[in-house]
Amino acid sequence: MKVVTTRAELRAVRAEFPRLGLVPTMGYLHEGHLSLVRMAKQECGAAAVSIFVNPTQFGPGEDLSTYPRDLDRDLRYLREAGADLVWTPRVEDIYPSGFATTVTVGGITDVLEGARRPGHFTGVATVVAVLLGAVSPTRAYFGQKDAQQVRVIQRMATDLALPLDVVVGPTVRESDGLAMSSRNTYLSEGERASASVLYRALCAARAAAEGGEFDAHALRRLMAQLIVGEPMAEIDYVSVADPDSLAELATIDPARGALLSLAVRFGRTRLIDNVVLPPSR
Ligand code: PAJ
Repeated sequence: MKVVTTRAELRAVRAEFPRLGLVPTMGYLHEGHLSLVRMAKQECGAAAVSIFVNPTQFGPGEDLSTYPRDLDRDLRYLREAGADLVWTPRVEDIYPSGFATTVTVGGITDVLEGARRPGHFTGVATVVAVLLGAVSPTRAYFGQKDAQQVRVIQRMATDLALPLDVVVGPTVRESDGLAMSSRNTYLSEGERASASVLYRALCAARAAAEGGEFDAHALRRLMAQLIVGEPMAEIDYVSVADPDSLAELATIDPARGALLSLAVRFGRTRLIDNVVLPPSR
């Protein structure tokens, strides 16, 4: 496994791999990240991982300064997972002096996470564009855990005609259903126990929809009621949205399906999760 920092080092090592899958990450890796690494390795024959806590996607008052980091542990996990190349750029390797370009994806970034975190997706799209340009992978891998991020990157890749495939991996969960996240480490013991309510609420709404409840208001109410039952949880949003436009629905069209998603705070920690209702045929 080669570990590189500068773009020149990256360029030299990149040449060794005819096909390469890239998994962009912010580190503090868990099984969600590693499942994407294994998928990349299996599909492309070689897997690259970038580890970069991207300052431009954090808003003022967000957790940039406290975001968890442990490079030694990350590199150990990546060796075990079979990664071939790890890129750990410094801020100046990604944003050298004179850097003046941003990538903004319109429309779908106005809602959900984009509405609550102004500028977040411009930070994400810009850094992912730099990472993809520098690594030039055959395929790039992202997790369904961040459903809106996936849509933003697919839109960018299509619109900018990026010469690569965007691949989406399923959300990896703890045994109680909590989606794995580097931010779960912020949770106190009590908050961690309560946090399983996110997936319980999503599953309850999915079951209701599968049982014929297509009224989106009723599904949002059902999710909200379950979350409010957890004393430590504070709802940021619960959403039943069109799977393509991400616009809030009044009624689910079973032929189109829906994205059920939510954001919930536990103390200072904000968690997100989602499940997809696939279109029925
Ligand atoms: P990060 O939160 O480190 O996540 C890196 C990748 O792992 C993302 O594609 C994310 O969706 C995926 N992932 C995280 N938790 C997952 C889980 N439980 N199951 C499956 N996949 C999971 O997302 C980012 O970093 C950044 O925004 C980034 C794309 C690297 C740009 O800075």
